[in-house]
Amino acid sequence: MIKAMKLKRKSYKIYNDKVENILPTLKTNSIDLIVADPPFNLKKQYDGYKDNMKKKDYLIWVEEWIYQGFRLLKPSGSFWIYCPTNLLGAFQLIGSKYGIWQNTIVWKYANPISNRKRFPKTWSAWLFFSKTEDFNFYYEFFETIDSLHSHRKHYEKPIYDVWEDIPKLVGGYLAQYEVVLKGGKNYERMFVYQLPVVLLKRIVGVCTKENDVVLDLFAHSGACSVASKIMNRRSIIVEQSLLYCDEIKRRLQRYDRAFF
Ligand SMILES: C[S@@+](CC[C@H](N)C(=O)[O-])C[C@H]1O[C@@H](n2cnc3c(N)ncnc32)[C@H](O)[C@@H]1O
Repeated sequence: MIKAMKLKRKSYKIYNDKVENILPTLKTNSIDLIVADPPFNLKKQYDGYKDNMKKKDYLIWVEEWIYQGFRLLKPSGSFWIYCPTNLLGAFQLIGSKYGIWQNTIVWKYANPISNRKRFPKTWSAWLFFSKTEDFNFYYEFFETIDSLHSHRKHYEKPIYDVWEDIPKLVGGYLAQYEVVLKGGKNYERMFVYQLPVVLLKRIVGVCTKENDVVLDLFAHSGACSVASKIMNRRSIIVEQSLLYCDEIKRRLQRYDRAFF
């Protein structure tokens, strides 16, 4: 049995394994926040994982880790799930079976994703569930967020459920500073789905306080754990790819050096 308390010194623990193998081994009521950005069964290329389950198997699998996630949460905890618009209904239904829906956050990006025979997509969603009605929500954190990347004050521009102020990360010549590149002439990204740390900081900041435990599922680039580390939260990271785990470790070690 893994005890979150063991994280004290290093402040994070990485499991290079499948979520479905690790979650059943973790302790009930031990986690403050879970953030999940799962593969969406869209035949995308991940290191070591084929993103092509049968439709009905995929939803059974989704239900398995959502159920386990709610078991692991403390009564005051929250579960945030990132989802594309096509899976929003299914994820909301499954999440509401085990937890309490609080918000659907629309993350609206400036750079639309083009689609043949469809309107180009300009947003994706974050589903925010709590385990009980008595959950942690630190609204005052919004003030700090403004100071991070805007001159505007909280009372001038409060944050609602549509987030338009955080651009997606891009590769190539325009790659933002935090984007992990493979190296080479083309500035190709190591993580095609790398999420911006500032977005995860908002989620971590409103749902946890210092030293709380954040569970980063399907961690990929580890954006959530980097945010947790910067904000002095402990994190448990689960990612099936060794290549990705090594890079997450490298990203987190940079902050280790800065803090200890
Ligand atoms: C869409 S990416 C997540 C993006 C991430 N949130 C970020 O900020 O960069 C999905 C990740 O899930 C991992 N993965 C796929 N199946 C998994 C499983 N069963 N258990 C753990 N990780 C898995 C893939 O290797 C991939 O890195």
